[in-house]
Amino acid sequence: MAAPRALLALLGLAAAAAAREWVATPETVRPLVTQEQLLWVSGRALGAVDTFRVPLLAATGRGTLLAFAEARKHSAADVGAKFIACRRSIDGGATWSPTRFIADDGAAGDGLSLGAVVVAGAEVLLLYALCAHRAACGPPSTMLLRSRDDGVSWGAPRNLSDQVGTAVFAPGPGYGIQKRCEPARGRLVVCGHGSLERDGVSCLLSDDGGRNWRRGGALRGIPFGAAKRPFDFTPDECQPYELPDGSLVINIRNQNFYHCRCRMVARSWDGGRTLPPEAVTFDPALVDPAVAAGALVTAGLVFFSNPAHESQRVNLTLRWSFTNGTTWWGRGLQVWAGPSGYSTLAAPPPGAEGDAPSLYLIYEKGRSQSTESISLAKISIFGIL
Ligand SMILES: *[C@@H]1O[C@H](CO)[C@@H](O)[C@H](O)[C@H]1NC(C)=O
Ligand SMILES: *[C@@H]1O[C@H](CO)[C@@H](O)[C@H](O)[C@H]1NC(C)=O
Ligand SMILES: *[C@@H]1O[C@H](CO)[C@@H](O)[C@H](O)[C@H]1NC(C)=O
Repeated sequence: MAAPRALLALLGLAAAAAAREWVATPETVRPLVTQEQLLWVSGRALGAVDTFRVPLLAATGRGTLLAFAEARKHSAADVGAKFIACRRSIDGGATWSPTRFIADDGAAGDGLSLGAVVVAGAEVLLLYALCAHRAACGPPSTMLLRSRDDGVSWGAPRNLSDQVGTAVFAPGPGYGIQKRCEPARGRLVVCGHGSLERDGVSCLLSDDGGRNWRRGGALRGIPFGAAKRPFDFTPDECQPYELPDGSLVINIRNQNFYHCRCRMVARSWDGGRTLPPEAVTFDPALVDPAVAAGALVTAGLVFFSNPAHESQRVNLTLRWSFTNGTTWWGRGLQVWAGPSGYSTLAAPPPGAEGDAPSLYLIYEKGRSQSTESISLAKISIFGIL
């Protein structure tokens, strides 16, 4: 009988709420969008910005949410002058500060590219690239912005290329991590990709909170240093996360659909120092049109977000895994059926805001094109309003 069962389930949830124990099981985990709003709308209405794209999101140790996006000044193209737009929320995403432009590349022909945000102890770091497309500019540079006051103010950009070289490194897009477990507990790991020809995923590592950086492991495209064709091995935009055993997983855009129209997955057991090619797998459950996706570990679950479609950027879907990302539960939660593109996931530290564990999804969303706006959805993991 359905009704008593549902009632029992509700009572179970109520008991869990009372005890503040949130045990993730297939019965209790029912992600539900409890709040959604547009943070940026393209179309020259805000600061005369043509297009907002490539949203990033971070939750700081205090539970503050920081949202970032590329503000493409004159056109929707990847190449061109941009600002970095930032908004901040101290009430769990209910209200947001006005937009601030925290970086400006002037009138650059091939300006900045976001990027990866890293919560490093009490500081927030934001890495981005300059001249990543090498369009009549150069050399490419890897830049770092730092906030010491929870994202209220940002210092001047620092050029990391003296430390990590001037080969193209386009971070993320998404977030970088600070390792919580051994090996290399405390290390900052930011992964990104190279130019389209010298493509491949690599990571930058810092063992001193972001003062000094060095190049870690790389997973090279094949054929390396040559123009790619359909179905060549081309690891591209990527999102790392750490499993409870201290290993790293890097969920990767499979740019030329090598092996499948699905996500590529790399692993590292030494904190990003090496990305062994023999450990690369493909996840047929994560069908993907070649896009930047979100991935996150929270509440003992792995979450994944992308436009779940073989060829089009539509059907933004959140998926979750009880098995460290080796299998995905059911069909996931469709957040938006229509045009949708890049996404990033973030979760506040446990207990940072009230009771029910939640996560946040920021994504490109539109009615006829995914680049129309940037939307932020708050999702209750256990389906509690
Ligand atoms: C960053 O540093 C590199 C290496 O010193 C230099 O070649 C490049 O021009 C610098 N980039 C910027 C934007 O100043
Ligand atoms: C949307 O994604 C879900 C999960 O992968 C899938 O089951 C469904 O068929 C997709 N819908 C469309 C229209 O592609
Ligand atoms: C996930 O990984 C952790 C750490 O290695 C392990 O203890 C746990 O059993 C794994 N869970 C599953 C379902 O495989």
